[in-house]
Amino acid sequence: MSQLVDLVIFGGTGDLSTRKLFPALYKLHKHGLADPLQRIIATSRGDIDTDTFRSEAHSNLQTHLAAEDWDEAIWEQLCSRLHYVRLDAARSDDYQTLGNLLDENSADVRLFYLATLPSLYGTISAHLQAAGSVDEHSRIVLEKPLGHDLASCHQINLEVAKVFGEESTFRIDHYLGKETVQNLMAVRFGNPLFHPVWNNSFVDNVQITVAEAIGVEGRSGYYAKIGALRDMVQNHLLQVLSLVAMEPPASLEPFDVRDEKVKILRCLDPITVDNVKERTVRGRYEAGAVEGHAVSGFLEDAEYHEAEATETYVALKATISNWRWAGVPFYLRTGKRLSRRYSEIVIEFKKLPFSLFANDPNELTNKLVIRIQPEETISLHTLNKKPGLTQKLRLQPVELHLTEDPQQKGVSYDAYERLLLDAINGDQTLFMRRDEVETAWRWIDSVIAAWDEAGPPIKPYNSGTMGPGAATALVAVDGRNWYE
Ligand code: BG6
Repeated sequence: MSQLVDLVIFGGTGDLSTRKLFPALYKLHKHGLADPLQRIIATSRGDIDTDTFRSEAHSNLQTHLAAEDWDEAIWEQLCSRLHYVRLDAARSDDYQTLGNLLDENSADVRLFYLATLPSLYGTISAHLQAAGSVDEHSRIVLEKPLGHDLASCHQINLEVAKVFGEESTFRIDHYLGKETVQNLMAVRFGNPLFHPVWNNSFVDNVQITVAEAIGVEGRSGYYAKIGALRDMVQNHLLQVLSLVAMEPPASLEPFDVRDEKVKILRCLDPITVDNVKERTVRGRYEAGAVEGHAVSGFLEDAEYHEAEATETYVALKATISNWRWAGVPFYLRTGKRLSRRYSEIVIEFKKLPFSLFANDPNELTNKLVIRIQPEETISLHTLNKKPGLTQKLRLQPVELHLTEDPQQKGVSYDAYERLLLDAINGDQTLFMRRDEVETAWRWIDSVIAAWDEAGPPIKPYNSGTMGPGAATALVAVDGRNWYE
């Protein structure tokens, strides 16, 4: 019999809760996975009662779920678990009402989900403890960003650790909840075929792209202070990089997997003042057209003075100094208002030393292309004879599809659904350990320090393109191209 869980969401009426958490909770009900949940208690400062909260949740869910997913009977199941408690996270007195509700019919596990400003994480933990709401079975889920540099991240971790042990702390990076990101481990460690070639003798370079078509939307205040490097690279791209590069773990248990990931982060060569101009590109979107719609530039969207110094695009050349990867560049890029939304990992294998065919040897490479979104596919790009009566044998690329797109099979789920389920069940494998987040910040701090001293200028790029031309040059100087 599984343990009963009370889930408490701080920031329960905020953007993340409305767009991601409640739709994911609805889907858990739809997929018959919500049985361990006793109550879902949303808290925020808004002066509303549970009935009003439920009716707002009802209409928000209809906005954020696809029409074909909506089922009033599922909603009824979810609704019966929903409660609302008005609470100002900074005021200790407000925690008593929550405590009383939790004590009524107490669940086996209390799962506190913090979807608030990270600067409140320490305060919330302390107030929960002072109100007597935390016991040895309680868990806490922390949303990113965990600080804005190593020092602030360290401080948050310290404060939370006074109340919640590491085994009870679940740091979310929603990219780890995506199906193909998990499939990466299956492909790497389940196929003997890839094992001998996954290293610097066979891999020429690795490319990780997270392209977004959206701009900063309603988050310009936050974004103007953060920028693409901290918002995306520190977490999502470095997590993906460590899964691509890590050694086989001793087991798939959380501690073992995270041990291997953190070793990779430790081996990333710092970016320095001497190489920052060759290794990094920063960009900022200007007005343009994305998917046929005219859109404004970042400075108009942001209306903040700091925005001048904020990048909405970053491309980097990272290198890993270890036995397996020395000499293999990992090119990373991410940006807003690019031509389309897609996230992809490309492992490009080394070229043939010599071509027997009519092709230029530069055309003759194998690639493993792992598409994280919008499709969830993995394909191996190989070469075959071009059919026909040509005089000299010519090769052409052929894609071998290694997966069936789960979306087409109807077995797709959202990353938040997976991660909420894991947090409910107490499985930390897909959550970041403290040393991982802090090691990632240490590397990001090296980039920021180099930018502050001698960084390349922020280059404008038109919305609807794939970023500034300097990003093409970043790989071109090494004789390579971005895979498009
Ligand atoms: C978030 C960032 O972590 O990830 C956002 O803060 C970004 O700026 C989002 O838009 C992208 O997530 P996804 O799943 O849409 O690729």
